[in-house]
Amino acid sequence: MLNPRIQEAFNKQINAELFSSYMYLSMAAYFESRSMRGMANWMRVQAQEEVVHATKFFDFIHDRDGQVTLTAIGAPPVQWDSAAQVFEHAYEHECKVTAMIHDLVRLARNENDPAADNFLQWFVTEQVEEEASAQLMVDKLRLVGDNGAGLFMVDTEAAQRAFAPPAPGAAT
Ligand code: FEO
Repeated sequence: MLNPRIQEAFNKQINAELFSSYMYLSMAAYFESRSMRGMANWMRVQAQEEVVHATKFFDFIHDRDGQVTLTAIGAPPVQWDSAAQVFEHAYEHECKVTAMIHDLVRLARNENDPAADNFLQWFVTEQVEEEASAQLMVDKLRLVGDNGAGLFMVDTEAAQRAFAPPAPGAAT
């Protein structure tokens, strides 16, 4: 049986992860509309990963005999001034998500729920990667600035990113 305080917090995290997905899809739309298909691809992959994150919380709540309650997802931002600004926003967003995950770890420990704590450790590790991958794109885009050839190269590289779906039946 899932502790009600953890259940409520995990339900909020499902919403936050789905909002992240929606936001990255909006960023993908920004790039698509400017024919930066590589960076659009990068954002589409990120949006898919966020759905996986939400689903992990969804499955954990059910595995603990809890109740999933889905709530309205807020509207994402739609406008940015440059590719660099989009990725700066993504990086700042991931830092916020990291803080949310760390808050959940504190809650799990305060509520004496080692299973929830253990489950959250996957996200603690994942957030290190989430911040690093967004930061890497920010660094590359700052390096090339307004240089068209440089932007084209970063876009071409971003096209290589591929979504790796979790293995069927993988533990959550
Ligand atoms: Fe689900 Fe990007 O954190």
